[in-house]
Amino acid sequence: MEKAIIGGTGVYDVAEKVSQKTINTKYGKVDIDVVTIEGENVAFLARHGKGHGVPPHLVNYRANIMALKHIGVKYIYATAAVGSLNENYAPGEVVVLKDFIDFTKVRPFTFFEGEDGVVRHVDMSDPYCSNLREKFYKAAQKEGLSIKGDAVYVCTEGPRFETASEIKAYKMLGADVVGMTNVPEVVLAKELGICYVAVGIVTNWATGMAVNSKGHISLREITSAIEVNKEKVIKTFIRVFLEEKLDQDHCHCSNSVIEL
Ligand code: HPA
Repeated sequence: MEKAIIGGTGVYDVAEKVSQKTINTKYGKVDIDVVTIEGENVAFLARHGKGHGVPPHLVNYRANIMALKHIGVKYIYATAAVGSLNENYAPGEVVVLKDFIDFTKVRPFTFFEGEDGVVRHVDMSDPYCSNLREKFYKAAQKEGLSIKGDAVYVCTEGPRFETASEIKAYKMLGADVVGMTNVPEVVLAKELGICYVAVGIVTNWATGMAVNSKGHISLREITSAIEVNKEKVIKTFIRVFLEEKLDQDHCHCSNSVIEL
């Protein structure tokens, strides 16, 4: 199965008719739904578990990505709930991640632990697959999904939200949106040569943003913003998977590992 969707906060399934698989990896077990749409099998994985039971800093990112690799996945689209630091990206709107800044602290973040005596690095010139990003934009137009633009994502460790001063600093560094999960997910996919794209669904203004009229972040604000767009985002992923002939000849994802 070459195609997969990873659902973030608020996105726990993509279709009713599914079969389930449990994949064993050296990092742990992972439950995956297999959805068959027009004869095409697509794997679906809920990043935080079906009931949103796993907090962002404890998600077993390595098991998740390794499990997808084990079943033959080459292309992943993911959703990510994000707060906005950019006045042009309001709650309820959709952005496509194009780069990240990493402020995570303690989570396992690589497959490259040097156990076999080889030192490996991975190129991050294009963390999010340029080919899948382009195809997502094209399909979104056909699906009638409005995308506000590209975004630089800053990843924090969580599970707490950021302070107003942190957000001010991240904004100065060039971040557009903030979340707690995309690193190391995007990095691990690249380490295994998988094309990966994450689409941000803006759920709230980041802490202390002047435009944040209510002055605090609420659960209702987050879940309702996701409801507005999640169906169209998922439909757009599936449209790419069904309509486009995908290959890894138009990006660098399958050869980004540098061995020394
Ligand atoms: N900060 C961090 N993660 C998030 C936010 C936020 O404001 N909104 C949704 N995920």
